[in-house]
Amino acid sequence: MKQDLIERIEKLKKKRDVIILAHNYQLPEVQDIADFVGDSLDLSRKAANTTASVIVFCGVQFMAETAKILSPEKTVLLPDLRAGCPLADMVTPEKLRQRKEENPDATVICYINSSAEVKAESDICCTSANAQKVVESVPNNREIIFIPDKWLGNYVLNRTNRKLILWNGHCPTHLMISRENILLLKERHPDAHVLVHPECTRSVVDIATHTLSTNGMVDYVKRSKARDFIIGTEVGILHRLKKENPEKRFYPASVLAECPNMKLINLEKILWSLENMKYEIEISEEIRIRAKEAVSKMLEINNERGKDYFNQY
Ligand code: 13P
Repeated sequence: MKQDLIERIEKLKKKRDVIILAHNYQLPEVQDIADFVGDSLDLSRKAANTTASVIVFCGVQFMAETAKILSPEKTVLLPDLRAGCPLADMVTPEKLRQRKEENPDATVICYINSSAEVKAESDICCTSANAQKVVESVPNNREIIFIPDKWLGNYVLNRTNRKLILWNGHCPTHLMISRENILLLKERHPDAHVLVHPECTRSVVDIATHTLSTNGMVDYVKRSKARDFIIGTEVGILHRLKKENPEKRFYPASVLAECPNMKLINLEKILWSLENMKYEIEISEEIRIRAKEAVSKMLEINNERGKDYFNQY
């Protein structure tokens, strides 16, 4: 049954010139058939550079939207339109405009976990992999409105000492990860390295060996000599970590850290999506162009030109 689904997906992929991109939190079966699995940053780069005509995005809506923002000439499909992001929904363009009016000179940095409309209202986008670098690219004398994740914002604030105007948003899945549980796991596995995502609360970040994006965790584990790892992010990443490091052991910081939206995509829906060419992501050109500016600035800053960015424009 599963093999049959995979074969039908493969056939349609060839026929329609498709690339399947999947986030590290996707179900194992989805990660296994994807052409590329990664974090938000790598997936956006991949979407910008692929030559395929169709992108099937196995992730949540803001990720598929980012692919469309960067590759408007491509058909971008999200196999289940209900795959949203509660964190992204915590900021609306109206509320952001109001905050901008209150702080007219501030630079707006938006986490990639935001809608295309919110990106269009922002100056620079960032992901968990480059938030610090993006913040540091803004001249010291400028105020920064950082939206929508207060925990990522708090993490960057503590590392940069910059005055950030934070937004009261959070990821409900990462809030399932508690310091107490990690400390209990640490008692059982004292040599384990604790890797947590910057969307976790401050009390969790404070006891981590490292705070990393999902791809940051993948790279760290690969290079580390440690054998045991406590993983403080959405549990879907454990599949990739185990698959790529069969000799190492992984313990989820919380088995409750499961994002229901990420788990909406499965093989049946990918096949259905390819058969029906649905759901196609559409963004008005006016919004897309403005949103693209924020995303492109992030990609430029990420490629090392960060420090001087503001002087170039
Ligand atoms: P990464 O960019 O680290 O993969 O994080 C994505 C995300 O949505 C975390 O909740």
